[in-house]
This record gives sequence, structure tokens and C-alpha cells, in this order.
Amino acid sequence: MPTSLLAGPTITYSQDELKQLAAQAALKHIAPKLGPTSIVGVGTGSTTNHFIDALATIKHTFDAAVSSSEGSTERLKAHGIQVLDLNSAARVDVYVDGADEINAQRQMIKGGGAALTREKIVAASADEFVCIADHSKLVTQLGNFPLPVEVIPMARSLVARALVQLGGQPIWRQGVITDNGNWILDTHELNITDALLLESEINNIPGVVCNGLFAQQCASVAFLATADEILKI
Ligand code: A5P
Repeated sequence: MPTSLLAGPTITYSQDELKQLAAQAALKHIAPKLGPTSIVGVGTGSTTNHFIDALATIKHTFDAAVSSSEGSTERLKAHGIQVLDLNSAARVDVYVDGADEINAQRQMIKGGGAALTREKIVAASADEFVCIADHSKLVTQLGNFPLPVEVIPMARSLVARALVQLGGQPIWRQGVITDNGNWILDTHELNITDALLLESEINNIPGVVCNGLFAQQCASVAFLATADEILKI
């Protein structure tokens, strides 16, 4: 069950301010766990950008970051935070990232920013996954947000037909090339009643690099900002 971490009068916040509050809650959560050898995994997106800015205020307390996108790497370096290649990191203490949707089981849809593959890799390397979002991302059932699927370009049509067989309506995100040189199919109309199964079924389609369901590897904890509290799930 979600628990509230803040009490006090209701203030009107913009969605961006809520993202910032969630990022600050994550910083408060991870700060006591960091030490001179700690590596922080960093996600991608507008909420994570707030987290990167917050992380910079404690950059002297940990060793380095590993990043899930070129964009986040650039922002981390601009703050003077060392960014390691994941292969050089013996372990990743914690991974902090946003989500496009999250349910009460902390399963997520991610990839709205097209960084899903590297996000899943860095998340899989981390001891803990901290999800941060404004409360609009909390859903009872995943799937209203179209599920991003990263595909090898030559397999786009093949994968699209297979996604239709699974009940989806894939739309090619034209003009977007991922950091890995691949394409994205945003898959609408999926009835996601078993996220664990669907994540595997989509991964099994030849040409799929990764899909944006984070069910097999859900968040360890989520901080979701509302107008008057931070929900901890
Ligand atoms: C990036 O590919 C995504 O997984 C983001 O984490 C997700 O889209 C959330 O983005 P915002 O924080 O910008 O809402």
C-alpha cells in the first residue's frame, strides 16, 4: 500500500514541480546509503533531469555515475559528475529513473524518451531501482501509454505484424533513432493483464532489442509526488 511521507497544507504545484519533489525524495532516500566507492545509476527523462540536478549537490559523497543515455551523460558531466562505462563499474549501488506508467506492483512502462534498452541494462545492474514520478503516472492497469518496443531497423515490419498478433496497434516513431541506432514502435491498444508474460512474448519476437515493460524487473521502491504528499510504494 502507498504510504504518505509528507504532511501539511495543500499547495498547488505544476507537474514539473511535482517531478522535482519526487526527485528530491529519491535523493533523500539514497544519500545515507552512498559512500566513496558508490556508483549511482541514472535514468533518462525530465524527472531524472531533476534528480541529476539534485545529485550534483552531493557529488562529493559517491564515486561516479553510470548513465542510460547520451542526454543524461551530458547533463551529469556538465555538473562535474564522473560518468563510467557500465563495463568499468564493478557494481551499481542504486538506479534512479522515471516512468511513463507504474502500477501498485511497481511494474512499469518506460521508453517514452526512447532510452528503454540502456535503462533496462543499467537497472538490471543495480542493487536497487528507485522510480520517481509525479502521481499522474500511477495507473491501475498498464497500457494506456503506448508500449515502446525498440527494433532492429530491418525487422520493423516483421515485429509490427507480430505485435498486431498480440493485440497491439504499433506505430513507428518516425524520425527517432535510439542511442543504439535502432527504431521504436509505439504499441497502442495492448491489453496488459499479465505484464510478466507479455514482456517475454515481445522479447521473443526476432528483431526486438527490448520492450518498455519493466515487469520482470520492477522498481524496488517508487516515490510519486502529489500536490500534498509523496506517496511511497
Ligand atoms: C525514457 O526513455 C523513459 O523511460 C523515461 O524514464 C520516461 O519516459 C519518463 O519520462 P519523464 O520523466 O520525462 O516523464
